[in-house]
Amino acid sequence: RILIIDFGSQVTQLIARRVRETGVYCEIVPFNTAAEVFPTFGAKGVILSGGPASVADMGTPRAPQAVFESGLPVLGICYGQMTMAEQLGGVVESGHHREFGRADLNVVAPSKLFTGVWEAQSRNQVWMSHGDRITQMPQGFRIVGVSENAPFAAIADESRHYYGLMFHPEVVHTPEGGKLLANFVRDICGCVGDWSMAAYREEAIAKIREQVGEGRVICGLSGGVDSAVAAVLIHEAIGDQLTCVFVDHGLMRKAEAEEVVNLFRGHYNIPLVHVDAGDTFLSALEGEHDPETKRKTIGRLFVEVFEAEAKKIGGAEFLAQGTLYPDVIESVSFSGGPSVTIKSHHNVGGLPERMNMQLVEPLRELFKDEVRSLGRELGLPDAFVGRHPFPGPGLAIRCPGDITREKLDILREADAIYLDEIRKAGLYDKIWQAFAVLLPVKTVGVMGDGRTYEYVLALRAVTSVDGMTADFYPYDMNFLGRAATRIINEVRGVNRVVYDVTSKPPGTIEWE
Ligand code: XMP
Repeated sequence: RILIIDFGSQVTQLIARRVRETGVYCEIVPFNTAAEVFPTFGAKGVILSGGPASVADMGTPRAPQAVFESGLPVLGICYGQMTMAEQLGGVVESGHHREFGRADLNVVAPSKLFTGVWEAQSRNQVWMSHGDRITQMPQGFRIVGVSENAPFAAIADESRHYYGLMFHPEVVHTPEGGKLLANFVRDICGCVGDWSMAAYREEAIAKIREQVGEGRVICGLSGGVDSAVAAVLIHEAIGDQLTCVFVDHGLMRKAEAEEVVNLFRGHYNIPLVHVDAGDTFLSALEGEHDPETKRKTIGRLFVEVFEAEAKKIGGAEFLAQGTLYPDVIESVSFSGGPSVTIKSHHNVGGLPERMNMQLVEPLRELFKDEVRSLGRELGLPDAFVGRHPFPGPGLAIRCPGDITREKLDILREADAIYLDEIRKAGLYDKIWQAFAVLLPVKTVGVMGDGRTYEYVLALRAVTSVDGMTADFYPYDMNFLGRAATRIINEVRGVNRVVYDVTSKPPGTIEWE
């Protein structure tokens, strides 16, 4: 396995994903705990990530010296290259503000890193990061790649297996970057590359059995992919020692609740308690139009209802959650101070302490796309596994203003037609998330010979990598026209459709 030391780059997680794509397991640790983790981690190689600091400044982060004393191969990327150069006796100068850009890399000498990927003297597209620059290389290194503005774009000490890149091999703008990383982890570090979802499934099952023993587990299903995959995996490990609880808040999309229930009871035969709590949620939300109050009300009720059901089942000492790796990675922050709450997210955090239960989190090591392939491995239908993310508070936050059953029904119908059109156009998998929002505004229209006075519906679709930033999806106008016409013709209560062309930032993906 490979250890990735994080210096705070925005794209450190991509390094991990690229490494895992080569079939090699890896983990990310922040630079400030790396010294503790490294000695017992059992790494066959180390990757140093990029980061926003300047090596030439006082007190900026360094890799543990033990990494260089261990004799293991090291790949430094961007900031990682700089700190490696400096820690091994080279000289690094700052003063250039950090900027990213496309560049041509000239291969000037052969390197094990480039084997089978880049030929000698070839020019190759890379995504460069300019900031610090090396003015004197450490002993033993030589230049293997240059670009117009970067004389030390790629350096190597082949005998010690040290490599430094000023560009980012992990991003898509370095088209062959994944192959360079594969060369590093497989050929240079000697990792076999047999880490696969099938292997992960077996390991995870063994771990769950060991943790749970004869105990009983409760798993809250949200209708989303993560909790479903966690539940199916746990069921495979311990069978009917697992009970799933699906708190149906009545804010799901059209046919969604039935789908979940049928999948679990019908297809997998997993014990499932379906709590139809729609009335409880809707009456608590009545007349409420403030987004944060809506979110907090839903979060509080969810915990109460779940807790009550768990008590009825009784005797469970474990609570299963579909926590993913990005939630677990301690992010390296240079900003200091707590960040502002934009939205209170609804999740089951806090439940285990309240209920005095131990957590079972079999997806803690996985990224979202890996959870999807594990889901496929476990036989979950493709259409279920590939679903767009759906927020915990459901349609409540897609109905700005106060929520009524009538509005929810209109929104459900319109949203289903919109998604149907997206699927028909073959766009579903190109979009991170698409949904309709029912605005609390009525406008005048004309249909046939009559006047209408009905709601406005907004359509939203974004592309994103992780939901942190997003771009609106650039639909063809014909598509939008088609979807709008169908919605207005088929859904009573909507007479006007608009498209949201806001990116995130400054917008958020959801409207509330
Ligand atoms: P925003 O609207 O903050 O959303 O740009 C980013 C991503 O998070 C989802 N989202 C939630 N997911 N509980 C969730 O599990 C929530 O309370 C919640 N609110 C937003 C949103 O759908 C998008 O994918």
